[in-house]
Amino acid sequence: MATRGGFSSKFGFIAAAAGSAVGLGNIWKFPFEVGDGGGAAFVVMYLGFCFVLCFPVMVSEIAIGRRTQRNPVGAFEALGYKNWKFIGMMGILSGVLILSFYNVVAGWAFGYFLEMVQGNFGIGGQFSDFVKNVSRVGLYGICFMLATAFIVSKGIAGGVEKAAKFLMPTLIVIILSLAFYAMTLPNAMAGVTFYFLPDFSKITSDVVYSALGQAFFSLSLGMGALITYGSYVGKNDNIIESTVLITLADVGIAFIAGLMMFPLVAYMNQGDMSNISGGAGLIFATLPGVFETLGQGTGVFIGALFFLLLSFAALTSTVSLLEVPVAFVVDEFKLPRKVAVWGLATFIFIIGVPSLLSNGYSPFWTEFVTYFGSDKPTDFMTFVSDLANDTMLPLGGCLITLFTAYIWKKENLSDEIAVGNPKFKGSLIEKLINLGISYICPLVLGSLFILTVLDRFFGIKFI
Ligand code: PHE
Repeated sequence: MATRGGFSSKFGFIAAAAGSAVGLGNIWKFPFEVGDGGGAAFVVMYLGFCFVLCFPVMVSEIAIGRRTQRNPVGAFEALGYKNWKFIGMMGILSGVLILSFYNVVAGWAFGYFLEMVQGNFGIGGQFSDFVKNVSRVGLYGICFMLATAFIVSKGIAGGVEKAAKFLMPTLIVIILSLAFYAMTLPNAMAGVTFYFLPDFSKITSDVVYSALGQAFFSLSLGMGALITYGSYVGKNDNIIESTVLITLADVGIAFIAGLMMFPLVAYMNQGDMSNISGGAGLIFATLPGVFETLGQGTGVFIGALFFLLLSFAALTSTVSLLEVPVAFVVDEFKLPRKVAVWGLATFIFIIGVPSLLSNGYSPFWTEFVTYFGSDKPTDFMTFVSDLANDTMLPLGGCLITLFTAYIWKKENLSDEIAVGNPKFKGSLIEKLINLGISYICPLVLGSLFILTVLDRFFGIKFI
């Protein structure tokens, strides 16, 4: 296995894993879900899910990866449980599905960066035409997939880690500067107040399920991305400490993204946050108009910086999404990394074409399916994201904790964590993690999975 490569340092792993976590989920999706879900009420729920339900899942994933040094499918086999390989298979399928539509949105972000550089603020009002121009956004998608594949083809230390070490600090500087700037604008405080004051009346069952899906999606959990990255981690790394740092980086950046977004929206609406409607267009349709009001010079600079930030954040995530199937193919079929990378990147781009067409260009893909109990059709891209993010990831998380607690066994998990963390055994955190994987995660995630499927796809509501 010497040829698999690995992270060259502890910081390298944390930067790469945080890079996987921090992405469109934090900067594009989180603010609009907060907007739709009652401001702070959604934030509190999301934080609770991240720290209570996701923490034990992340620890388990990294530990399984490090113990076996294999991809998510091979890992279960290497532990001696061939019959549980299906969890890894499902993870790889989720990863492929997520990357197929994620790359489309990443392409939009990159396209908007080019528009901002040219000072074309009108693009905000033309968002629906922009996404319908499939040859153009398709080309942006190709550029994005090429960049992703290029990085992954360079391997772990020389590609994934190197890119993350450059992109992550840059991203943090950009997002902090933008948030500080946004807060100096007139009426910014109305946005901050909206963000911090919960409106519990907006919490519906759907908002709860979305918050759970968002927690898993945003932390890159439930599909083996962290089994894969964990398989490249050194034995003297402290898994608990890494999990804390990755989680804090992820929720921290999502939080700051809100501190940037809501003041900007409040500034544009002159402090009126009463009918803030989120939706996928929050960033793409609204922000260019905000940047325009800042004047040509500042507007171009801030606008370009913003979409560059979004593209960078997306890139470290697409890299991790591609690395999962690549590791699988390289480990299991012994293909050279470069062949696996370019083959899979092409394949996933092709699977993403229906998502590309489903934003108004093709009526078939735009009105792909009407869920039971709904009167409106759902487009293909939303369908794939409903399926993968909100359904398959929490299910994957549930199965991973069940497997760890009852099949692989808690003692083995503790043994693996204790390598590199000698004080772990007998600590309070060990007890909490055991409680999490044995009872809390399987029960809560299992129930929420069932409720989400019934609600989302069949229109059957219990709460
Ligand atoms: N966490 C990424 C984001 O927030 C998305 C992602 C999900 C990446 C699953 C890898 C695995 O954008």
